[in-house]
Amino acid sequence: MKKLLIFASGSGSNAENIIRYFRQRQPASVQAVFTNKADAGVVAKAEAFGIPSVVFSKDELNDGSVLKKVEQFSPDLIVLAGFLLKFPSDIIEAFPHKVINIHPALLPKFGGKGMYGMNVHKAVLEQSETETGITIHYIDEHYDEGATIFQASVPVTDCVSAEEIALKVLALEHEHFPKIIEKILSE
Ligand code: GRF
Repeated sequence: MKKLLIFASGSGSNAENIIRYFRQRQPASVQAVFTNKADAGVVAKAEAFGIPSVVFSKDELNDGSVLKKVEQFSPDLIVLAGFLLKFPSDIIEAFPHKVINIHPALLPKFGGKGMYGMNVHKAVLEQSETETGITIHYIDEHYDEGATIFQASVPVTDCVSAEEIALKVLALEHEHFPKIIEKILSE
């Protein structure tokens, strides 16, 4: 059984989707959710599945405390699903090629500092893009610049608001993220 850890800072719909997907399939299971926000929606979602949450501060993320807790789980893959802090290099170095992230745009477009959540979809709308999508990539020291694993796109010419774009992108995330995780674990 492959072991997954999920890092999230927000509502956790991707985390919930991944937990649910692997509850019905054996190759992997989510061991815990790590979050920097005790009140994040992801905590309650994980709890509903009996999955523990590890809550930490930004200092603990960067002083080696979180690395020690991650190592206790011996994860085969660390999945960032809406994790908003810069991921520390000590965990990346301890788990080379085992940290992945999902970004709600077609990187390298609409990536980098400040490009998260609705900011991304507002920028896509403002720049009158005809399509957007998702990028699943490895995390390296340069955050959104790790090797791309998978991309999927969706037309947005019919969208008149950033919220409409966000809904289309989230549907892509839920459709593809668990399957890409499963593929990575099978390699
Ligand atoms: C997703 O849009 C993902 O692309 C981004 O953060 C959001 C997480 O949403 N990294 P949720 O918390 O999984 O609902």
